[in-house]
Amino acid sequence: MSHHDDDIVCNTSGNPHFQDVLERGLQSPMRRNLLRGGVGLAALSTVPFLAACGGGEGNDDTTLGFDSVGKSLLDNVVLPAGYTYQVLHATGDRLDKTVAPYSNAGTETDDWSRRVGDHHDGMDLFYVDRKGRYSDRETGRALLCVNHESSADAHFFHPRGQTTNGVNGKKFSQFGGWDLGVRPEQEVLKEINHHGVSVVELERKGKGWTYVLGSSYNRRLTGQSPMRIAGPAAHLADIKAFMFTRFDPTGATSRGTLNNCGHGKTPWGTYLGCEENWAFYFQMPKGSNPVDARTQTARARYGVARTPIAEAATSASSQGWYSPSATDDRFARWNISAVGASAAEDFRNEPNTFGYNVEIDPLDPKAIPAKRVAMGRFAHEGAVCSIPQPGKPLAFYMGCDSRNEYIYKFVSTAKWTPSDMGRGMAAGDKYLNEGRLYAARFNADGSGEWLELTIDDPRIRGYAAYTFANQADVLVNARFAADAVGATPMDRPEWGAVNPKNGEVYVTLTNNAASLRSPTTTDAANPRAYQDVDGRRGSGNPNGHIIRFREEGSQASAVQFTWDIFLFGAEEDAGDANLSQLTESNAFSSPDGLWFSPTSGICWIQTDDGAMTDESNCMMLAAIPGEVGDGGPVTAQNRIGSATGTQETFMGALLGESRLRRFLVGPPGCEITGVTETADGKAMFVNIQHPGENTPALGSGSSFALESGWPGNQGYGPQGRPRSATIVITRKDGGVIGL
Ligand code: FEO
Ligand code: CA
Ligand code: CA
Ligand code: CA
Repeated sequence: MSHHDDDIVCNTSGNPHFQDVLERGLQSPMRRNLLRGGVGLAALSTVPFLAACGGGEGNDDTTLGFDSVGKSLLDNVVLPAGYTYQVLHATGDRLDKTVAPYSNAGTETDDWSRRVGDHHDGMDLFYVDRKGRYSDRETGRALLCVNHESSADAHFFHPRGQTTNGVNGKKFSQFGGWDLGVRPEQEVLKEINHHGVSVVELERKGKGWTYVLGSSYNRRLTGQSPMRIAGPAAHLADIKAFMFTRFDPTGATSRGTLNNCGHGKTPWGTYLGCEENWAFYFQMPKGSNPVDARTQTARARYGVARTPIAEAATSASSQGWYSPSATDDRFARWNISAVGASAAEDFRNEPNTFGYNVEIDPLDPKAIPAKRVAMGRFAHEGAVCSIPQPGKPLAFYMGCDSRNEYIYKFVSTAKWTPSDMGRGMAAGDKYLNEGRLYAARFNADGSGEWLELTIDDPRIRGYAAYTFANQADVLVNARFAADAVGATPMDRPEWGAVNPKNGEVYVTLTNNAASLRSPTTTDAANPRAYQDVDGRRGSGNPNGHIIRFREEGSQASAVQFTWDIFLFGAEEDAGDANLSQLTESNAFSSPDGLWFSPTSGICWIQTDDGAMTDESNCMMLAAIPGEVGDGGPVTAQNRIGSATGTQETFMGALLGESRLRRFLVGPPGCEITGVTETADGKAMFVNIQHPGENTPALGSGSSFALESGWPGNQGYGPQGRPRSATIVITRKDGGVIGL
């Protein structure tokens, strides 16, 4: 709910609400088969609140080996007794000895292209063996890829904050809409370059890890790095036609990756940096030439600026990177108006070059990353792979993080061949260009369907709200295609995670607003609409939930699945809304990051919250999952003001304090995001994103009124301004994290 993650609602498709979904569901012959434990149809509509829960203890004998940490508002990272952390790297750390150490005062004169980026987000580890090859076994040497999401608080990277030329006198962020006139090019370059992905070599030192200054693997992919446009062979020419720009009139390449949020790791050892809120980086300057009506329609569905900004307008969005006095295309490219005679002579298509999973081979610094268009264009939030099975297709599960958007999956045409491990971008071309793209529909009876997005579907071919030209158009404007086939709008899909024990897929739904989720617009998969009882009284689904599903036959290529809701976020005093019966020691809000440890089997849940932050900073919890269907039907009692309603849904077994504990709380203003471990489960990497995010702009003062001073206040780097960072958590006794 923090402003950098806020979003414009672009889904006006009117895909079904609970009434019609429920009615369909009640008639479904599948229902009886899907309900487990003998809970039948009749029971569903009559079970009192929570009465059917608490059966089933799950089937897992793992136990959590730490005591929950309390809620915290401290300016530090709080861990359970017996655990410790060190900072691995933080915003601005240099990759090479030739670059000056970070000042933390905004005085850098380099362009940031050889520094660790800002807003650490999704990340993963890639082991390197003695011959420099990728290894899935621990070697003591690893490459850490980290997404650097955004620059909502970019004012920390300049001596006195961003130069706004006095426009509105405001702090400038990606969601501002001010025409800022001429901005200093050095400032803009820093801002472009602290986006993207960092690749940094790590080496093991005792129990801990450090990064290797000057390693030849150290690399930055930024908002300016060259990228290759990749997609299905039969449609690649049509795809390139969407990408024509003055930079590459053939559409074969593009520049940069932006707003990399969640991530993916492929079974062959490459990294997927997923582009999320890329829509807000572009500008239609005041008085510029409009684009055609069809382009305007497409942009509206993605929240991209459609029409020229008005005098003193605050509705159009941009980072302010477009500057009318720009000397070269590094700045002109953010102006997406129709400046030239055709799309190949300007940058009106620049927004079409973002919104993808970007594949990066961390082991090959020369390999040009690929934008995997076959996996669809939307606000990508993570791309988690199914458990690879030799001879079977791979599936990647993907959220589109905006309110009322969809969950997608991509199923590869190629069947998994374990010998492809380590084959880098060539393997990516094999698995990620040809395949089927689907969007999810969650039915009221606990079943679900994967709806293929293909121009061959008459609902897509004949879609009224947007006329698709071809299959390339379906991929580039995938949100419209998902609208057309009736996918289920969700409460902001964030990360996905696959349970390594059984292949079940979990997806966080971080929250939703009352304007979109009211007592009359709930559905079984998004069943709550309520008001927080105290403090920051958000309403709608302010605390979010985690949905999970099992593919039919546990096959990644299945087109049907069974779902239930794993956990509902809530404050412990939330009354009826606290369906998962959370307590003071495991209450949480706005789940976002999500990951299963293959070593401990623990499901790690991270929060990006603004609804409960009056009581606690953002946090990470450990959960011992059961399986889909281990609970039963419940009825949510919904109320916002005088509006009331009930909603039947399915919920997993209650976890209680024995199977759900708070493990970590971060500093004020941060989001906890990104988690991975070494293969032995004894060193855990976690990202602390944007501590101190709510620090006000400087205005006329001489120093920032900092909301946080972490990690400088703990002895890492210069004290003062807060910095995003990767930390490494270990147990003082050297044991496996969480057990
Ligand atoms: Fe970047 Fe969806 O959080
Ligand atoms: Ca509250
Ligand atoms: Ca409370
Ligand atoms: Ca987030």
